[in-house]
Amino acid sequence: MLLNLWYVAALESDVPSDRPLGVRMLGQDLVLFRDAEGVIRALSDVCVHRGGSLCRGKLQAGRVACPYHGWEFDGEGQCVRIPALGDEANLPKRARVDAYPVELRYGLVWVFIGDAKADERPPIPDTFAPYFESADWRCIAGKFHFPANWQRVMENGLDTAHVHFVHPAFGNPAAAKVEPAIIEESQWGAKTAHSFTAAAIENKSGASRAALEEAGRAAPGSRRPSSELQFHMSGLTIQILQTMAPGIAQCILSCDTPIDEHSTMAFWIQARTYKREPEHDADRAAMVTKVYEQDATVVCASRPAFVPDRELDELTIAADAMPMKLRAKIAALAARGWWIAGNGGNSDHGVRVLPSAARARDPEGWVLPTVQRA
Ligand code: FES
Ligand SMILES: [Fe+2]
Repeated sequence: MLLNLWYVAALESDVPSDRPLGVRMLGQDLVLFRDAEGVIRALSDVCVHRGGSLCRGKLQAGRVACPYHGWEFDGEGQCVRIPALGDEANLPKRARVDAYPVELRYGLVWVFIGDAKADERPPIPDTFAPYFESADWRCIAGKFHFPANWQRVMENGLDTAHVHFVHPAFGNPAAAKVEPAIIEESQWGAKTAHSFTAAAIENKSGASRAALEEAGRAAPGSRRPSSELQFHMSGLTIQILQTMAPGIAQCILSCDTPIDEHSTMAFWIQARTYKREPEHDADRAAMVTKVYEQDATVVCASRPAFVPDRELDELTIAADAMPMKLRAKIAALAARGWWIAGNGGNSDHGVRVLPSAARARDPEGWVLPTVQRA
């Protein structure tokens, strides 16, 4: 797993105003809470006193209070009150936990995990803004849990050939050839586009089928959908724009947060141009979930659980070009020392935490060590 990326920790709507929320990512526990101004904050969940779990505590005037002995931590991770020392006490500097920068974008809570300097950090991808901000697109959001490694999940999302075999409502196994496509690479990702022969209209359902039928695009051979596919390392984000017919399009953003090495939470937003009335939202959310379930069926059964270390242990073809671009980006970031080794060195005898930007500015005076790097 990689440090020094923005990751989606939650849907903004999941963060309550009256209590903290625990989230797990990169094999560690974080606590999210709203401070006195309602701004969402993210801290390491492990209290540095006796290891209490902060997300099981209470909100106290915009601070999170540990459930064990009531130490109160502010949004910067500084402990500002230790009840057992009394209100007049000088608190030790080491009474602090790592605090991670938070940004809200597209209704998602993005958290920067790592200690890279600000000018080394990748940005949050802005490619979804045209869909999220336009009244011509209707957006819905949700999440899907894969009991699978994040690289396996991402490679599936970037795999154009599987669509014909795994998603009957989109692909067409009788016309499954993947034509060579140009891939545009950027510093933090890559992008490609292609068109393909549509699935039979009988395979489609719900609002998209109705929209295509109303537009007279249901006849066989009348559609050759196009797809634009891109990824960005921040948020481990995949964005797929599908134009099913002129004026009938949908764009999905999937941010694949590793919960740990064996488990991934895909936070998704779907934008659509058709049937934009809210009454179609549940149907579209069910469709997105069904597509993820179809992916999970193949991904979770793939072996080994992690992408193999040796290329020789797989047979790669031209149609696998996008997943291979992802592997190259991951390898480049790992070579910068951003890879977390195994489970980060945690055990029943010692806890390690995810490093934060404050560690780079002020490396001394922390109680807990940070996760081990490869
Ligand atoms: S363990 Fe958190 S206050 Fe003691
Ligand atoms: Fe898929």
